[in-house]
Amino acid sequence: MKVTILVGTMTGTAQLCAQEMELALDDGETQVKTVLMDGLDATVFAQESLFLICTSTYGQGDVPDNAKALYDDLKAKRPDLSHVRYGVFGLGDRTYAETFNFGGKRFDELLTELGAKRIGERHMHDASSGVLPEETALEWCQDWMTLAKEATTQKS
Ligand SMILES: Cc1cc2nc3c(=O)[nH]c(=O)nc-3n(C[C@H](O)[C@H](O)[C@H](O)COP(=O)(O)O)c2cc1C
Repeated sequence: MKVTILVGTMTGTAQLCAQEMELALDDGETQVKTVLMDGLDATVFAQESLFLICTSTYGQGDVPDNAKALYDDLKAKRPDLSHVRYGVFGLGDRTYAETFNFGGKRFDELLTELGAKRIGERHMHDASSGVLPEETALEWCQDWMTLAKEATTQKS
């Protein structure tokens, strides 16, 4: 089983979380690749893989700068992603009450619109909680992987 973690980040926190998830999940049976979203376009979803969107939120509830090209390309091209299964580990800060975790939310809504199916609940990390996101990521991704294995077994 292959898992591709797509990272949207401004100051590296989401990347740190992705690295923890890769370490936790990559065990030979599951092959994990972490990729920064910089320079990616919608064709990244053509590969045979499960996807984990690991992204923070910036500006007025926007995706980070390095995620904009991918997000905009998906919006413009609207490919059929009905073959895609994905999870979302979002990072944000509840201090931004109106736009809390909108980066992950935007990707989640767009992928669903394009026919992709989410596995598990979208995680919403809160930087103001004092809980370290990379620790939460470790636990969260193991639960997510269990659900992903169940989902792919049901499919085949
Ligand atoms: C200028 C700025 C704007 C932000 N805007 C939002 C926001 O609208 N909503 C939100 O939930 N978090 C917002 N955040 C919080 C970040 O998403 C959060 O700190 C996250 O952990 C940063 O992860 P990163 O280092 O991977 O970019 C903002 C942070 C900064 C510095």
